[in-house]
Amino acid sequence: MQLIDGKQIASDIKKELAIKSAVLIDKGDRAPHLVAVLVGEDAASQTYVASKERACKEVGFTSTVYKLEPDTSEDKLLEIIDFLNNDDEVDGFIVQLPLPAHIDVQKVIRSINPLKDIDGFHPVSLGRMMLGEPTFLPATPFGILQLLERSQIETSGKHCVVLGRSNIVGTPISVMLSRKAKPGNCTVTMCHTGTKNLKEIAQTADILIAAMGQPAFVTAEMVKEGAVVIDVGIHRIEDSSEKGYHIVGDVKFDEVAPKCSFITPVPGGVGPMTIVSLLINTFKAYNKEV
Ligand code: GUN
Repeated sequence: MQLIDGKQIASDIKKELAIKSAVLIDKGDRAPHLVAVLVGEDAASQTYVASKERACKEVGFTSTVYKLEPDTSEDKLLEIIDFLNNDDEVDGFIVQLPLPAHIDVQKVIRSINPLKDIDGFHPVSLGRMMLGEPTFLPATPFGILQLLERSQIETSGKHCVVLGRSNIVGTPISVMLSRKAKPGNCTVTMCHTGTKNLKEIAQTADILIAAMGQPAFVTAEMVKEGAVVIDVGIHRIEDSSEKGYHIVGDVKFDEVAPKCSFITPVPGGVGPMTIVSLLINTFKAYNKEV
């Protein structure tokens, strides 16, 4: 069994980006600039946004965070997005999700200029992804592709089973891995809450992607000997430790890992790659590659 070290791979990619960014700055160009908009005080969102800021600093990008009150109106948020859409010194921006209930998330996402949509959540970005055109790939599935590629895991012709059909992970990774691309060219089966024989399907996976958002859902009996297991889950489980909690994924790591050829740990697997993907997308936006 080989551990896919997302932390190490993310660190390697950040070093590569830091070099590219230093080259720009040496030339006298401005640094790539990522903006995050955070509405309200959701604890997890605050942590994510702080990690994004830290990652920008590490690679020499400029980062700005707009922290807005929880009762910020939808119109005010749309006004800020309009400003960011038109600011030439902003390469890309994200609106951190979830948003407070009084704001229409889809309306907000649709208001983002697709050329600055580094989350890849805009219908235009998702449509381009479907067509295999240059676009911003959503951060988590893009991170998974990079983990597979940098770990030299063959995907062509493999049966990939994706557990979960969310708009930000399950659905896009299913499309991305089924495309004629490298990594890709998989036969993909997507399982979800309507799937009747999920366990039997999971057992046939060469590559199993667990993204259904249920702690420790995937057990050893659901995994084929020699499978590659990618665990997208992040769950805080309260315990009596000093910190008061520990983090688990969607996979029962201890019992599943011995059966795998490759597996991602949680934390330290997919998680660190998500932010790195956002940095890559920011660099693409800066270079007007989309
Ligand atoms: N909340 C959880 N994941 C994400 C993400 O990838 N992007 C944004 N904007 N919000 C999130």
